[in-house]
Amino acid sequence: MMSALYDEQYARRYRDRDDELDAVGSYQELVRWIGGVCDRFAHPIDVLDLGCGTGRYFWGLRRVNMLTGLDASAPMLAEAKTPTHGDRIAAGRIDLINGDLSSHQFSRGSFDLVYSIGVLAEHVPLNRSLVERIAAWLKPGGRFAFTTVDPQSPDVPKTAARRIASAVLPAVPGDAGRRLHERLMAGGMYGDQRWIRQQLEGLFTIESLEQYQSDVHLHGRCVAVKA
Ligand SMILES: C[S@@+](CC[C@H](N)C(=O)[O-])C[C@H]1O[C@@H](n2cnc3c(N)ncnc32)[C@H](O)[C@@H]1O
Repeated sequence: MMSALYDEQYARRYRDRDDELDAVGSYQELVRWIGGVCDRFAHPIDVLDLGCGTGRYFWGLRRVNMLTGLDASAPMLAEAKTPTHGDRIAAGRIDLINGDLSSHQFSRGSFDLVYSIGVLAEHVPLNRSLVERIAAWLKPGGRFAFTTVDPQSPDVPKTAARRIASAVLPAVPGDAGRRLHERLMAGGMYGDQRWIRQQLEGLFTIESLEQYQSDVHLHGRCVAVKA
């Protein structure tokens, strides 16, 4: 269970690391990215951070009425009460909720922006049922911004089976190709651009989709508007 990994000791170390990240360019770039997503709205916004951890991106948000942070780990949430750059957080109110994003219920149309960094297609599968739930939580015109781990990331084990499957995939048509791709994505525990497009299809219009290199992984990074 994920909350067992993110115990008190881990959460304390994670929070200490937050204060060192100002020197890390890829972190600063993500902070600017999430701020830029907020700027796409013409009005103040209600925001949900899915798997917020210690709240290391809270200070990047702009013009926020209500910020909700959801996380399965109580120790991570305890650290999120005093997040990095707390004096620069532009939110009218912050609510921290201990819960599982796969089962927690929010009312329909609660948020203008749902974002999730370092969680989906990494710790929790990015799949259609999750995307449907997020679409329901968003207001009309709301946005979903998230990262995935790209299966091309150097830290993803390149087993012989994965190498062969990746090589033959472009030549495998129809349902067999879809099934093979799903296996390569480990059912949503990785997410390449094809996988992201499939999960969002019909529910969201993609505004931006690119690869992004953090200090840990090669990621997919997407901003999508509720269709
Ligand atoms: C790598 S950390 C990322 C935290 C934060 N988003 C960040 O970028 O610093 C992953 C977080 O996802 C949370 N998490 C994992 N599975 C979850 C689930 N099913 N529901 C809610 N949170 C979950 C963990 O507790 C942890 O805080």
